[in-house]
Amino acid sequence: MKNKKLLSVIAALAVLVIGYLGITGLTGQDGEQTASEKSETVAIGVLQFVTHESLDEIYRGIEAGLAEGGYAKDSNLTINFMNAEADQNQIQKMSEKLVADKNAALIGIATPAAQGLANATKDIPVIMGAVTDPVGANLVSDLKNPGGNITGVSDATPVADTVELIQEISPDVKTIGALYSSSEDNSLSQVEAFTEAAEKAGYTVVPYAVPSTNEIAATVNAMLPKVDAVWTPTDNTIASAFPTVVSAAKEAKKPIYTSVETMVEQGGIASVTLSQYDLGVATGKMAAAILDGADPATTPVEIFSEGTIVVNKKVAEELGLTIPDSLLEKAATVID
Ligand code: TRP
Repeated sequence: MKNKKLLSVIAALAVLVIGYLGITGLTGQDGEQTASEKSETVAIGVLQFVTHESLDEIYRGIEAGLAEGGYAKDSNLTINFMNAEADQNQIQKMSEKLVADKNAALIGIATPAAQGLANATKDIPVIMGAVTDPVGANLVSDLKNPGGNITGVSDATPVADTVELIQEISPDVKTIGALYSSSEDNSLSQVEAFTEAAEKAGYTVVPYAVPSTNEIAATVNAMLPKVDAVWTPTDNTIASAFPTVVSAAKEAKKPIYTSVETMVEQGGIASVTLSQYDLGVATGKMAAAILDGADPATTPVEIFSEGTIVVNKKVAEELGLTIPDSLLEKAATVID
């Protein structure tokens, strides 16, 4: 008897739920369309600046964000993906091709890619994927009110926070070499912010700007004997050649403080870092909103700046350094 009553309650609930789904199934709560209703296929172009783990992760996030926003690859979305492999000529050619192919929106992953797309069109919406300094890179003049055809997501990595990690993990360090690429607008503002914070904390920071990938090994070898530790911003040129930097620093027994988790995994010692995947998801969702009709001119740039700590215990041990327990407890990721 009791069971029968329970069964009928469940049956009644099921009818209600199915009925509710029937009414709302095709539209989201605020009347937004879902993937199943956006049956017409749209094409977008994605230009990635270069291959390195962080940008690859951002791209995976972008696909997930687009799907969350109702645009699923191979269902109602075609993604024309291109990778310029850090070649300026290719950036220009690929940008022009993506514009000529009439994509409905364009996503540029990393600053030089977004700049290439921005130069190629003033009409098609361009969404910046993880551009550190959109104003300094001349992509938008106002983060809150972009005004033109460009908006997107900025990774305002809290590079100054890394200074505390240097103090806690390697108290004997006095001179820090800042290794970055002179051709990346995204690195300049980070080097300035880091240098200011590190000098305030009593460090000497010496900038080592590499003109191109070919010069990394020579620059690193000139730098290592003169510094106690190395620091790098989220610089694409350094990120894509990072194994070279890691092996030279390992030999010289100097720690590398980075600005992103993937580079700590590859042999850096510690960083305060933003989730690259989450940056991608936010970029993908913004692209979906723009495909739905949002105007880039009035869509504020979304800024990520809250970092989490990641430390590499194995690298610390190799260098004879101890990561304090208090820091291990605070860290979101400990690699060992
Ligand atoms: N912010 C970089 C730019 O503006 C791109 C980037 C994102 C990056 N994550 C990174 C570069 C990690 C190096 C490492 O171009």
